Formats: sequence, structure tokens, C-alpha cells
Amino acid sequence: MIDQLEMIVPDDWHVHLRDGETLNQVIPNTVKTFRRAVVMPNLRIPIATMAAARAYRNRILSACPSRTRFTPLMTAYLTDDISTEELKRGFQEGVFTAAKLYPANATTNSAAGVTDVKHIHSALVAMERIGMPLLIHGEVTDISVDVFDREAVFIERLLKPLRQRYPDLRMVLEHITTEQAVDFVGSADQNLAATITPHHLHINRNAMFAGGLLSDFYCLPVAKREQHRLALRRAATSGDRRFFLGTDSAPHVRSAKETSCGCAGIFNAPYALESYALAFDQEGKLDRLEAFASLHGPAFYGLPVNEERIILQRDKQLVPDLVNGFVPFHAGETLPWRLQPRV
Ligand code: NCD
Ligand code: ZN
Repeated sequence: MIDQLEMIVPDDWHVHLRDGETLNQVIPNTVKTFRRAVVMPNLRIPIATMAAARAYRNRILSACPSRTRFTPLMTAYLTDDISTEELKRGFQEGVFTAAKLYPANATTNSAAGVTDVKHIHSALVAMERIGMPLLIHGEVTDISVDVFDREAVFIERLLKPLRQRYPDLRMVLEHITTEQAVDFVGSADQNLAATITPHHLHINRNAMFAGGLLSDFYCLPVAKREQHRLALRRAATSGDRRFFLGTDSAPHVRSAKETSCGCAGIFNAPYALESYALAFDQEGKLDRLEAFASLHGPAFYGLPVNEERIILQRDKQLVPDLVNGFVPFHAGETLPWRLQPRV
């Protein structure tokens, strides 16, 4: 049995850091584990310009604990009227690492998202030409489609046609939750990858209803049946470089989770790597954690692999009910791994 795992410090390829006081409260939880993070642009006022992204990046850096080496990788929020010029310049000047497609009203702060991909045709053509990745929230918003089928239907109705129309566009299907997504990404020849969250490796949809309505397990895309969780585990631990780490840590204050219309999002940043380590260990694939967490992401994004190393110790720890006022994923559970924080 391995008692200590030393690995290249990982990156989080999908995280919500929020803004203002919440940013200050949650950022230490990400930087203690990750060297870089792809920061989602779905603030209340979406990040859709270079100026907004630069200013947000500065606020993130100011909120980091001192002496931290942490690089936020910023993303542009695609809207129906996004400026193609702004996207191109932003990517070429290193302000934007990627652009994010939220179908309008698919999730938190997505009202300004894309109502029809035909509106962003010129942006997609430009991104395809310059190699700028498109990050996709892959759910249809058609209310006649069952909420548990929205990812699978998105693949059929939108992703397949997008792949045909823009074959050289580099795409990441974010936070995948279904066997269909695993199969589709796993059979793609090139230019398509997927992130997988820790929570989708641990919970299926029953977690939301265990003994009552548990909003702490509600996120989007919503967790699916057990067969899907098992498919995600196989994909994450397969060693296939198309699958890599993206926590989708998405904190919401208590009053926004526990209300008549609660927000979607699971705050998993505080124990993210411990959570992945537990899942990989349960699958007998701890030796593949480093590639999933620290190698496949940089390879897809064409970025260097981190130089620092990090140590996970097999050492039990009880996850508290609250971390800075937010309920962390695994609250009240004892995790068998403990990370030696990098800062
Ligand atoms: C995210 C959020 O709260 O910003 N929520 C979530 O459930 N994952 C948005 C998102 O990534 O869908
Ligand atoms: Zn997200």
C-alpha cells in the first residue's frame, strides 16, 4: 500500500473563484493545491472584454495569500454579440486562455450566454484559426428535455454538428457527467478533451435525496445514475490524455443554497486533490493520478508542465462542516489522504 504520493503540482482546468468577499474567502483553498487554474468568467457581470479580464485577474492575484506562485488563466464569456476582434487580440496578447460557451440560461449567471451558436460563427472561425480553445457547458436548455438527459442530448444536437463544422477547433467538454460524454470524447480523433470533477467521481443522483433534499449535492450538470459515475471513474483513471482534472468548485453562500430556489454548485476546492486521490485509490489506479492532474491538461493547452512537486500523505482527516462559511464537499466525512499544502 502506498503511504505517500509525491507528484508534480497539479492545475485546476475549471474553477469558479467568484469576486469580492467570496473571492477572498475561497481563493486560499485553490492556491494551496493548484499552481494554475482556468477561471470561469460567469460573474454577475460576465467577463467578456480584455479590460474586464485583466482587472479580474488583478483582483484574484491581490486576493492570493502572500508569497503564492499562482497563475489564473482567464476565459472570455461568449455572448451573442461577442467581439471577434476582442477575442483574437485577447488570446494573442495572453489575456484570454480560452473562451467559454454557456448556452443561455443553462446554469449560474448564464442569462447573457449564447442563444444560438450561429450567432458566434465568426468567433468560432477565428478561434479555430488561431488555436484558441472553446470550453463548453454541454447541456441543452430545452425545457422539454429531461434534466438528466440534457448533456447526452447536447452531444447529439450541438456538439456533433459543431465538430463537423469546425473540425480544427480545439474544444473541452467541461465537467462531463455521462457515459455518452465519456464515449464521445474517448472516440474523438483529435481536438476534443473533457474535464472531470471530483464530485462526479463520488456521487450519483441519489446523493441529493438521501433522507431528504440535500442541496449541497446539487450542481450542474446534475449528477446522473450510478452507471455514469462508474463510466467517469473509468475515463479519469484510464490514462487517456483526453480526460483531465477540472474541479468545477462553485461556492455559493448558505442562504443561496438553502432557499426555495437554491443555486447549483459544489464547493470542493478545500479537499479537491484528496478527493481525486480517494477515487483513484479506490480504483487501484493511484499511479495514474499525476497524469490526470498534472500532465494531460498542460498537454492539451500547450503549456509547460509545472516544476514544483506536492506530497499527499495517507493520513486520516475529518472534513469540517464549514470552510470559511461555505460547506465543503465531503463535509463530515473522514478522508484517508492529507495534502501538504504548497503555501
Ligand atoms: C456553476 C456556478 O455556480 O457558477 N455551478 C455548477 O453547478 N457547476 C456553474 C457551472 O459550471 O455550471
Ligand atoms: Zn463550472
